[in-house]
Amino acid sequence: MKGLIKNGTIVTSERVVQGDLYMSEGIIQMIGNCEGLVTDEVIDASGLYILPGGVDVHTHLNLHQGNYVATDDFYTGTVAAACGGTTCIVDHMEFGPAGCSLKNRVDVYHGYAYGKAVIDYSFHGVIQHVDEAILDEMASIIENEGITSFKIYLTYDYKLDDEAALRVMKRLGDLGAVTAIHCENDGILSFFKKHYLEHNQKSPIFHALSRPEEAEAEAVGRMITLSEIAGDAPIYIVHVSTAKAAKIIAEAKQKKRNVHGETCPQYLFLDQECYREPDNGGLKYIMSPPLRRKSNQNLLWNYISEGTLDVIGTDHCPFNFHGDKQAGRDDFSKCPNGAPGIETRIPLLFSEGVMKKRISLQDFVKIISTNPAKLMGLYPKKGDITVGADADLVMIDPKKKVTLRSDFLHEHVDYTCYEGFELQGYPVMTLSRGEVICKDGAFIGHEGRGQFLKRKKVNDGVRIWN
Ligand code: URP
Ligand code: ZN
Ligand code: ZN
Repeated sequence: MKGLIKNGTIVTSERVVQGDLYMSEGIIQMIGNCEGLVTDEVIDASGLYILPGGVDVHTHLNLHQGNYVATDDFYTGTVAAACGGTTCIVDHMEFGPAGCSLKNRVDVYHGYAYGKAVIDYSFHGVIQHVDEAILDEMASIIENEGITSFKIYLTYDYKLDDEAALRVMKRLGDLGAVTAIHCENDGILSFFKKHYLEHNQKSPIFHALSRPEEAEAEAVGRMITLSEIAGDAPIYIVHVSTAKAAKIIAEAKQKKRNVHGETCPQYLFLDQECYREPDNGGLKYIMSPPLRRKSNQNLLWNYISEGTLDVIGTDHCPFNFHGDKQAGRDDFSKCPNGAPGIETRIPLLFSEGVMKKRISLQDFVKIISTNPAKLMGLYPKKGDITVGADADLVMIDPKKKVTLRSDFLHEHVDYTCYEGFELQGYPVMTLSRGEVICKDGAFIGHEGRGQFLKRKKVNDGVRIWN
């Protein structure tokens, strides 16, 4: 299939140009004046921005969390992603049975995604225990599967202690892979959780109060120290929610430490007062780290603009409010953690970031597409509009006004945290490898068309400091 997109404004992390874009065999073949080329399809992009498709490197599709299963699987979740302008995800594997191998998780996840995903995808490996066998196995997962990032958690059932985290970082750094880390000091969390539960303080606000900002900041600082000791092993701090933690990352970046940071829309647009929503509405926002005091938000925007926070991921992990979330009705600690957001990341960031002039168009492309592609070994196949890259594109109409409502979103869950948000600008078309898969809010691709991506190793070349 040969296609031509005419009259649009092409935006990358480096430049903004008027021009045509010609693609065939799913690849971008020419940018500029494409007069006279043979095409099967011409798309008129007058008045639209053409951007590299979004890359969301923090999703939890199909996640089994205790007795609960996240409501989006690899079909519904990737349809929602595509309708929101995302053309590639790197999903976090869930924990498996105690003691299971890395390959066990990889096989389970291939089973979840294959024949279902509608956009291209990869997985982050998950490390739930550390021993010689696991450290050894990392090499074959990286080489054979092209999985070049692994997630560790400092809280939850399979939290790693410092020695285990250090061993993981060192080994992955030596093998050319990155350690992604959920940073919260588990001792602090458990101290406060016990305190509030003992005092019968169980409503959703106590979820936030039991996970203080310091718990995140302390863990971030400690992991940066470990990465330095591990020979400057690359680390990627997921879902940074506080200015305190971002400041520590900024200081480390000034010293050229090999650390990168991600935040998520919920920490930019929502704050901990949401936990006080009437009728237990606060349960919708139970996620970890929790929503924070509003005063963090402007500071996080500054840390994005100055390049401390490299990536916006979603941490999409949906559970129905009128379903599983109700498990926390009488006790916040029983509520499954996570919230939806895979479809609203790009619309929110474009409207509230670009249109409100908090970030430039090019920085917007950087944080939603180019940087995550670079950091996760997907660049330049993904994350850019350049000859030879996959023709993964999103077109945004800056004039289109949309009021977000869960009933028109494709996320398979009964609420959005952004109900009623009025947005200026919205994705109107998404292409994946040259195929139009979403148009005017409707998904028109087919189930299972997404391909698993073997990723490159992530050695020194991917460091991003401003
Ligand atoms: O609450 C959240 N974020 N749930 C998903 C798992 C995680 O911590 O990323
Ligand atoms: Zn996490
Ligand atoms: Zn997560």
